[in-house]
Amino acid sequence: MNCEYFGKCGSCTLHDLDYEAQKSFKLQEIKKLFEPFGVEGFGWHSSRPVHYRTRAEFVIWHDKEQISYAMHKSDKSGKLPIDKCLKVDEKIAALMPKLLAYIQNNPTLKEELFGVEFLSSVSDILVSLLYHKRLDGLWEGEAKECGERLSVKMIGRSKGVKIALNGDFVSETLNVEGKSYHYKIYEGSFSQPNRGVNEQMISWVSKQVLLSKRRDLLELYCGHGNFTIPLSLCFRSVLATEISKASINAARDNAAINAASNITFVRLSAEELMEAMAGKREFFRLKDIELSSYDFTHILIDPPRAGLEPKSREFLRRFDNIIYISCNPHTLKSDLDELCKSHKIRSFALFDQFPYTTHIESGVILEKLNLNDCKI
Ligand SMILES: C[S@@+](CC[C@H](N)C(=O)[O-])C[C@H]1O[C@@H](n2cnc3c(N)ncnc32)[C@H](O)[C@@H]1O
Repeated sequence: MNCEYFGKCGSCTLHDLDYEAQKSFKLQEIKKLFEPFGVEGFGWHSSRPVHYRTRAEFVIWHDKEQISYAMHKSDKSGKLPIDKCLKVDEKIAALMPKLLAYIQNNPTLKEELFGVEFLSSVSDILVSLLYHKRLDGLWEGEAKECGERLSVKMIGRSKGVKIALNGDFVSETLNVEGKSYHYKIYEGSFSQPNRGVNEQMISWVSKQVLLSKRRDLLELYCGHGNFTIPLSLCFRSVLATEISKASINAARDNAAINAASNITFVRLSAEELMEAMAGKREFFRLKDIELSSYDFTHILIDPPRAGLEPKSREFLRRFDNIIYISCNPHTLKSDLDELCKSHKIRSFALFDQFPYTTHIESGVILEKLNLNDCKI
């Protein structure tokens, strides 16, 4: 990709390398970081280099009467007005100029607008407009008209208030190992931003799981069931937990849409789940669930960038198989320092979710060591 804003826009930090050179750079960094673990090889999963993002947000820059999209400048000296972004998927890229032209000519939609967020899927596109002003009936009418004209779902956000004019989710389909999975993805909740790489991550995890002896799966940080639903086919039953109420509600809907009947989703933080499993605390949310009836052979974790708390690392040690999806190699390394006292790394894969940036997503499969080999 060759973007006219390379070097000026703060979003693409590896703009001076082509895709192959970015791959070499990232692989080298990861090999250096994980050298002490003696990993035999890192599987690499490429992204499309352009149009890979199904979520994107832009600042709206006002210059007298004129508005434009803007990004943070690479030298952090302020905002850079832009008229396109090659990272966003084709649907968002096609909508961006049309939406801007519409808002430019509509004082009610333009006034005090400071940001736009896009969320796209195979079948929908949703736009959230972010305002400093209170949103009234006049705004609602104009936004509804805009949504209808441009065939998009519209949301307005202002001072903690959200107005969804025609739904607050998109319907996504992922194709994994010859099967299609359908998801509702809600605005405001976490979702993987790169559809193609997400499909590769789910496929890789499923194949890894099939190589081991399986019974039940415990999943923490499950979001809207992104991994849970395809993986449920590999297990007798699945208990999946997550802190966000909106994500758990979406996960239940998604399980129903995909007729995945062997999953129980419960809204519990990782910390609460550990307390419940240790018998230290009772939860009304678990009243119909017999934790002791599960035979968890596997645990899947996909934590936020901060990685795991010491208590969580301790908790993981009891599982024969750990599947760790990580968006931060540095916290992953600290966690592996501890986990590798009781487990060994069976497989390590890299997923290039964000080309032209230094970010890299990792997947690690850990297997429990024999008692004699444990270093604890
Ligand atoms: C990286 S996302 C992964 C979500 C999901 N696995 C996916 O692929 O879409 C991390 C998720 O952890 C949830 N989360 C954050 N802190 C948590 C906590 N302390 N306990 C449980 N879930 C948490 C977030 O709401 C988010 O959905």
